[in-house]
Amino acid sequence: VGSDVTNEGAARPSNSPRRLAVVTGGDSGLGFAIAMALASRGLDLVLVARNAGRLSAAAEAIRGAVPGATVEELLTTDLASPAEVQRVAETIAREHPRVDLLVNNAGGIFARRDVSPEGVERTFALNVLAPFALTYRLAGPLLAAPHARVVNVASAAHRGHRLPMDDLLGERRYSGWRAYGRSKLALILLSREFARRWAGSSVMVFAVHPGFVRTRFGLNNPGALGLGFRVALALFAIGPRRGAETPVFVATDPSLEGYTGLYFARRRVRLGSGRSRDGELGQRLFERCRELTGLASVSLPGSGVARQPPSA
Ligand SMILES: NC(=O)c1ccc[n+]([C@@H]2O[C@H](COP(=O)([O-])OP(=O)(O)OC[C@H]3O[C@@H](n4cnc5c(N)ncnc54)[C@H](OP(=O)(O)O)[C@@H]3O)[C@@H](O)[C@H]2O)c1
Repeated sequence: VGSDVTNEGAARPSNSPRRLAVVTGGDSGLGFAIAMALASRGLDLVLVARNAGRLSAAAEAIRGAVPGATVEELLTTDLASPAEVQRVAETIAREHPRVDLLVNNAGGIFARRDVSPEGVERTFALNVLAPFALTYRLAGPLLAAPHARVVNVASAAHRGHRLPMDDLLGERRYSGWRAYGRSKLALILLSREFARRWAGSSVMVFAVHPGFVRTRFGLNNPGALGLGFRVALALFAIGPRRGAETPVFVATDPSLEGYTGLYFARRRVRLGSGRSRDGELGQRLFERCRELTGLASVSLPGSGVARQPPSA
């Protein structure tokens, strides 16, 4: 990847099968840079985003930069709502029996505690439950691809955080930064747990830290957090195209074939925090997410019965 993450068009070889990538939050920031790079590598795209104007502008920009690019626009209302995630997944699955790549990129940080339409704390609902449920509900189309990948955009901000199972939703104490760090820890744990459950299948699951990237990230917040992000992004952040390098590498590099459950930063495998590798915690979290998304009674297609965690 590197300097070849480009918006210069690269035509798909005419005889190779079409590959489809779904990118959430594909209308701006990292998601847009990732989508552009994937299109330039010949993948067809479904961009999922909630701002109609930005979504069509992003799709248009990709079509303009990459001759022959196929870009579908899927407007969502709010991915923090499991019901809406279900609608999005069903829409994709209806149109596309096969999905080769799912990039769970949409996410955010919220200084003030807020809840999703279903009453779940918003950071957890958007950064954890949405990628969980979208991956789960797209299991069929992902398993239908000969080699599928799921790339979860996590963060190095997971380091130093715990995941208290008795206060996952920050009901006792809330801080935006802590909720964000915990959500990315949870996302890495879930990536590993999906990988474990899908071991031996054709779907690989990875988590990535993209770097500190100049996007609109954090700017939704009033007060000190918003101001802090504004200053830090201006001073220290890398551009979105560079930020997209690790996610795109993990999404497309042939050298990763056969590996799964890994966490990457700067295009290298990293260990992640000790807690992010706690398999037992990952299994408990997975079960809790199934309950919170209405998937408790839906078994995960493609997962071996022997790999199910103990029911206790
Ligand atoms: N920027 C960084 O330094 C950095 C570092 C580590 C990880 N990350 C992660 O990278 C991912 C992308 O963030 P970014 O930096 O590109 O920030 P961004 O510019 O704010 O993009 C976030 C994307 O998520 C979408 N989104 C937010 N809330 C949503 C909701 N409720 N429903 C549907 N879509 C929603 C946004 O859409 P709207 O514009 O409509 O809100 C936008 O498309 C996030 O998961 C973030 O945690 C970023």
